Amino acid sequence: MKTLGFDEETMIIREARSGDEAAIRKVETAAFEQSMEAELVEALDAAGDTVLSLVAEEGGKIVGHVLFSRLRSPEGCLALAPIGVLPERQKRGIGSALIREGLARLAKADWKALFLLGYPDYYRRFGFSVEAAERFETGYPKEATMVLELAEGGLGGCSGPIVYAPAFEMFE
Ligand SMILES: CC(C)(COP(=O)(O)OP(=O)(O)OC[C@H]1O[C@@H](n2cnc3c(N)ncnc32)[C@H](O)[C@@H]1OP(=O)(O)O)[C@@H](O)C(=O)NCCC(=O)NCCS
Repeated sequence: MKTLGFDEETMIIREARSGDEAAIRKVETAAFEQSMEAELVEALDAAGDTVLSLVAEEGGKIVGHVLFSRLRSPEGCLALAPIGVLPERQKRGIGSALIREGLARLAKADWKALFLLGYPDYYRRFGFSVEAAERFETGYPKEATMVLELAEGGLGGCSGPIVYAPAFEMFE
């Protein structure tokens, strides 16, 4: 069995709370080497479009963050973005732990599907598919657009273009 690099004794995944803003900004900015993704987090929060925001904490320090936001279309669907792990803590399973915890929590709610723009080689392991997203129109690169069904048959009920929350317009 592959040994995980994070300290399973001290690593926790929890919902982001008031007071975490600066640490989340630091993590996203370090991960992406620019501040736009941190600004996206703040804009989504401010607009009330954040559905779930999780942090990974090691020994009391926030080392990773992921955010799930409401799409404008298809109805009942979400976007995963951004996700970032501190560069010095990457490739130890923290990103995967954040995604898996997010998926477990979202599966308990009434969401149909989760879209993202990302590296297919990374996201395929969680069940995301480029092929399943092909029939949805998007202004972003098709080859990086992926989707994962959150409820059985959820994707079947989804149609129309993929329209992200207005905060994403900063990337256009
Ligand atoms: C992507 C990211 C969140 C993954 O977090 P992590 O904690 O390093 O991920 P894990 O340890 O769970 O998984 C590591 C795996 O991801 C893969 N991976 C990381 N970045 C990747 C990339 N750009 N393309 C393909 N695979 C990638 C690693 O090769 C590794 O693969 P392996 O398990 O087969 O060895 C992290 O690398 C990061 O913050 N990157 C910079 C910001 C970013 O690109 N975010 C995602 C935008 S879509």
